[in-house]
Amino acid sequence: AGVLIATAILGYLLGSIPFGIVITRAFGLGDLRQIGSGNIGATNVLRTGNKLAAFLTLILDSGKGAIAVLIAMALAGQDAVQVAGFAAFLGHCFPVWLKFKGGKGVATYLGTLLALFFPGGLAACGTWLVMALIFRISSLSALIAAAVMPLWLWAFGRADMTLLAIALAVLIFIRHKANIARLLKGEEPKIGKKKG
Ligand code: G3P
Repeated sequence: AGVLIATAILGYLLGSIPFGIVITRAFGLGDLRQIGSGNIGATNVLRTGNKLAAFLTLILDSGKGAIAVLIAMALAGQDAVQVAGFAAFLGHCFPVWLKFKGGKGVATYLGTLLALFFPGGLAACGTWLVMALIFRISSLSALIAAAVMPLWLWAFGRADMTLLAIALAVLIFIRHKANIARLLKGEEPKIGKKKG
């Protein structure tokens, strides 16, 4: 149990690094929480107009989820990977450094899934991408990708991951409360736009 707790703490700490804030500041783009939706994720970094900063945020926020899973695999084996991935996701959404006011977890979710079960991660990324191409709305694409993930896992024969996928989908929906309200009012901005 000790190793499990240690990988969970490590996962949380990795997940809690707010790369969006770090990168936006490093690029001299201002305080991300005063921009757009105020969220700390790649979608909001893109609203600064800096595509490289947004891309780096996406890669690093995904990467920290993947690394948490890979470290857990190396240190504690298969039993610890889902716990570590879940912990990294919680770290991103509720980081102690930001008084627990973190992000919405989408990039970290995708990176975690890619490391846990690559085909499933690809399915999630693919779903997000197709929805983004159709609707051009980041939050809506994430909500759909998270909602259908349990079905993808079932189709892939990974019932052991269903509970995790459902828990993460519920958390992603809760974190997108403001986005869902805007979507229902037709006021959610398109990707890269500051206003709808
Ligand atoms: O990854 C978060 C995304 O789904 C929504 O971000 O900034 O539009 O609230 P934002």
